[in-house]
Amino acid sequence: MHSENHAIKLDKKGLYVPLSTGLFYFNYYWLRDACSSTIDPATRERVFEISELPCPPYPSAVSMHNGKLTIDWRDEQHQSVLPLSMLSDFAANGGRIPDIADIPRRPWYADGYANFKRVTQHDIETNDTEKKRFAHALIEDGIALVTDMHNSDESLTRLATSLGPVTPVVDGYYFDVRLTIDPTNLAYTANALELHTDLPNEDSAPGVQFLHCRANDVSGGRSLFVDGTAVAETLRNEKPEFFNLLCAHDIPFYRRHIGWDYRAHQRIIELDAAGNVSGLTISQHLQDSIDLPQSLLDDYYPALCHFHRMLKEDRFVTRFRLSAGECIVFDNHRVVHGREAFVAEDGERHLRGCYVDRGSLRSTYRTLGANAS
Ligand SMILES: [Fe+2]
Repeated sequence: MHSENHAIKLDKKGLYVPLSTGLFYFNYYWLRDACSSTIDPATRERVFEISELPCPPYPSAVSMHNGKLTIDWRDEQHQSVLPLSMLSDFAANGGRIPDIADIPRRPWYADGYANFKRVTQHDIETNDTEKKRFAHALIEDGIALVTDMHNSDESLTRLATSLGPVTPVVDGYYFDVRLTIDPTNLAYTANALELHTDLPNEDSAPGVQFLHCRANDVSGGRSLFVDGTAVAETLRNEKPEFFNLLCAHDIPFYRRHIGWDYRAHQRIIELDAAGNVSGLTISQHLQDSIDLPQSLLDDYYPALCHFHRMLKEDRFVTRFRLSAGECIVFDNHRVVHGREAFVAEDGERHLRGCYVDRGSLRSTYRTLGANAS
């Protein structure tokens, strides 16, 4: 075995590649799997089974020129040619595949409403730059307001499916929030609706929520929205012991009615791999009897109550009146929502809603390209 470029350093299980930012270590399995020949050009899926190799991949020759790393594999009749730009991008991104949808969250507070991105339904449907702006806002702020919505059932379908397929829940693909006889949910009454995220009783709670306001001429009934991840990050600073408890334990949620008995455990505050708050689950009306050890509850309950009270503080809650023709769209794992009570006798209030997965939102953003405004 020899190396034409002595700057490459071979090791037992991997090699060091001299990139512009310095030496970066790559494992041989990873390099063999990174070969473009492992991907079927038609399906774009991986068709090479590395587990079928008779022995661990090891190079017989390695060279680096013309911006490429070339590896001949010792126990196979195979050569891999890997662009250094691909290796550099991977190294620069901390060993992760670069992702344009990996947009840092921008926290917002009581004055958030004034700064929500506003896009017309027509612009989203006819202009990819505007659609990118809409998707970008949903990832960065977790919320956006669509205006000039056409007043029909089909209008919400068009808007939602511009991001991805509508995902069903037990109520079906769509729900209508208005007064109903024998309501199955507090939302379908004229009462105040406490701040919550939707349907934590599901194994995986719905991702992006759409609420299309079709009519709202009642007294009261203002919408309340809170950036829950901003509140959780504030809790981390102000009461780290409470924050740690809410990150550490799952608690039960339920939804029961005639013919249903949904149950799931969720974590009130979720962290991503980097330790940032990535989501939260709050629902007083769907929270079941907490099944943590009773002695742990001595500490857990005060933390949970404190967090519930924080979510209602004026510094965090943005209040506004949703008008007919507007659709508020938000990340149900980040944005906590509720409404003030309204007077049912003096008008009509009708919101039509549905959900789309957050994975669909990010997929749409990626396929729209890197140059989001
Ligand atoms: Fe809700």
